[in-house]
Amino acid sequence: MSSDQIVLVIGASRGVGLALVQELAVKPNTQTIGTVRDLNAALDVPNVKFIALDMTDDESVAKAASEIPEIDTLIINAGMGKRDPVTTISTADLGTYLTVNVLGPHRVIRALLPALRARKTRRIIAMSSTSGSLGGQALPGSIGLAGAYGTSKAALNMLSVQFHNELQSEGFTIVPVHPGWVDTDMGKLHGPGGMPPATSAKAIVKLVDGLTTKESATFYKFDGEKLAW
Ligand SMILES: NC(=O)c1ccc[n+]([C@@H]2O[C@H](COP(=O)([O-])OP(=O)(O)OC[C@H]3O[C@@H](n4cnc5c(N)ncnc54)[C@H](OP(=O)(O)O)[C@@H]3O)[C@@H](O)[C@H]2O)c1
Repeated sequence: MSSDQIVLVIGASRGVGLALVQELAVKPNTQTIGTVRDLNAALDVPNVKFIALDMTDDESVAKAASEIPEIDTLIINAGMGKRDPVTTISTADLGTYLTVNVLGPHRVIRALLPALRARKTRRIIAMSSTSGSLGGQALPGSIGLAGAYGTSKAALNMLSVQFHNELQSEGFTIVPVHPGWVDTDMGKLHGPGGMPPATSAKAIVKLVDGLTTKESATFYKFDGEKLAW
């Protein structure tokens, strides 16, 4: 077995996910795999293997998982988010948020458990948001996309904790991470002024490197600050 760390980033076509695989690609002793929904749209990043995966599709996730026998770290970066207040969004459209941001990560984690169990590191990062912090959103003047998006990210946080509860005896480390306000297609919806994706990605890779099982079920900001649930 290779001593390289194998890292899989879900949703690496653009934004934070693309910056993560670019950061990992120049890291020594690291094998990087990125997933994209459309392989034809994948950028050519040296040292990164791209495979196709749509988080909302059982067959697509199963096929991708069959191509990945082992990984140390699974970073589920993919997600959707717009400014959709719960008072105006239709119930069906709220369901789409849950389908992508909650059921998608659930499907991906379950499909990749054998690959994670094949190695000792067993680390899962769920890209969350301060919009998913119940405590933070209950404060006056809550920030971020909030609404339907925040609801889905709060559920993602709980999903991470429940996976932690069920897998901690096997040595898993599972944390939700807020990438900060990042200048991506999604981050731009909040206006100008987000940080460059590379800045967030560099900090996230550093944070992930330092994680041990003791930190599992902690909600982190990209810079290592612990966030309120
Ligand atoms: N940007 C911010 O300021 C910010 C703040 C807090 C949290 N976040 C979180 O950080 C993560 C990355 O955000 P971002 O700003 O980079 O977003 P983005 O620019 O909108 O990119 C979203 C990524 O998710 C992928 N994706 C969407 N639906 C998918 C699906 N069903 N299956 C597989 N991949 C899918 C997209 O692929 P396609 O190219 O195929 O659409 C794309 O690679 C998200 O989870 C987001 O919620 C971002």
